[in-house]
Amino acid sequence: EKVVLAYSGGLDTSAIVPWLKETYACEVIAFVADVGQGAQELEGIEQKAKQSGASACYIVDLKEKMLADVVVPAMQAGAHYEGDYLLGTALARPIIAQAQVELALEIGADAVSHGCTGKGNDQVRFEGAYAALAPQLKVIAPWREWPYKSREDLLNFLAERNIPCAASKDKMYSRDANLWHISHEGGELEDPWQAPTDKVWTLSQSPQQAPDTAEQVSLKFVQGSLSAVNGRHGTLTSMLEELNQLGGRHGVGRIDIVENRLVGMKSRGCYETPGGTLWYVGLQGLEQLTMDRPSIQLRRYLSQQLAHLLYDGQWFTPVRTALCAAAQDLAKVLTGEVVLTLYKGQAVVSQRRSPQSLYSEAFATFEDDDVYNQKDAAGFIRLHSLASRIRALHDQQRNPS
Ligand code: ARG
Ligand code: SIN
Repeated sequence: EKVVLAYSGGLDTSAIVPWLKETYACEVIAFVADVGQGAQELEGIEQKAKQSGASACYIVDLKEKMLADVVVPAMQAGAHYEGDYLLGTALARPIIAQAQVELALEIGADAVSHGCTGKGNDQVRFEGAYAALAPQLKVIAPWREWPYKSREDLLNFLAERNIPCAASKDKMYSRDANLWHISHEGGELEDPWQAPTDKVWTLSQSPQQAPDTAEQVSLKFVQGSLSAVNGRHGTLTSMLEELNQLGGRHGVGRIDIVENRLVGMKSRGCYETPGGTLWYVGLQGLEQLTMDRPSIQLRRYLSQQLAHLLYDGQWFTPVRTALCAAAQDLAKVLTGEVVLTLYKGQAVVSQRRSPQSLYSEAFATFEDDDVYNQKDAAGFIRLHSLASRIRALHDQQRNPS
């Protein structure tokens, strides 16, 4: 028996390796997805996996794929969950699970496993992808099976087996990082009345400590995808890294929310999406310039639908494909350039231009113009308000005052 485990090098998956071996008498293959969680998390991870008892460790760079396959479509639709959450964790999951399944099939594994708890969204996202891509694989979710309940239980479990682990006993935050965002949950944040301290945030400066001078950044987009930052083209990965730096320096993209998990409970999280917020805000600026009203309305609708599909682990479904096709079609006009002004936690659109612009100064001007006949408005308003006029006349006849 072979099991491919989505391995992060953290406490949970470090304990899962020996637990799987003991419980299922199987060989455990560690699968590490590099989604831009950072060098610190990846350093020495192969050795760590093997110390835990993994027979092999595969590290796959999925950064550009995550951005191209999931982030770009999500941004074309403008997907965000319950107001502000740009779905950083949810966006990475389909890509991680897909690559994990590919590895499992390649090496002839019997099962896949992950370290998500039985209380969260991530279990649904991983297993939703497994089900769609390789229903024949068995799924093992240790948190739903083993008797352990706490960090301390896991530390003891590892200590009994002489498996080294750098994790500390102290309750820290549960974090999930990738190139798009980092999430912080747990610890004192479980009390929604506790304000996040500076210890929470890792990707961005606080707006208070951000520079006292504003900084401008130019973003170029082609059909909703990022194509240049300050005039420089690059891979999506390198451009997003640059945006993370810029946004982070100015404290942009921090949120602190209470959200509805798919399993029903509310949870509190602090999330940082500095570069992603710039991308998102930039597209909103472009959308204003190039989309007519019904298109914007449809994009809002698609945004919400796609956000829910992503959040709920429904990426590999026909409805998601159809939704993304519609969003991509609408995004054909999201081509152009936007300048954002970054200052103390804010990113504000200050300049925008596009070959697709529907904005016409000739029509909009407050000065004299020769394209718009103001007298046309009279007939338009009479018909636009006709229903109100008829209702009011009717009411007057029924109740003469
Ligand atoms: N609540 C967010 C979401 O469901 C963040 C989850 C973070 N995941 C994690 N394994 N720490 O998308
Ligand atoms: C987890 O429960 O594993 C993390 C949080 C979540 O998935 O919502």
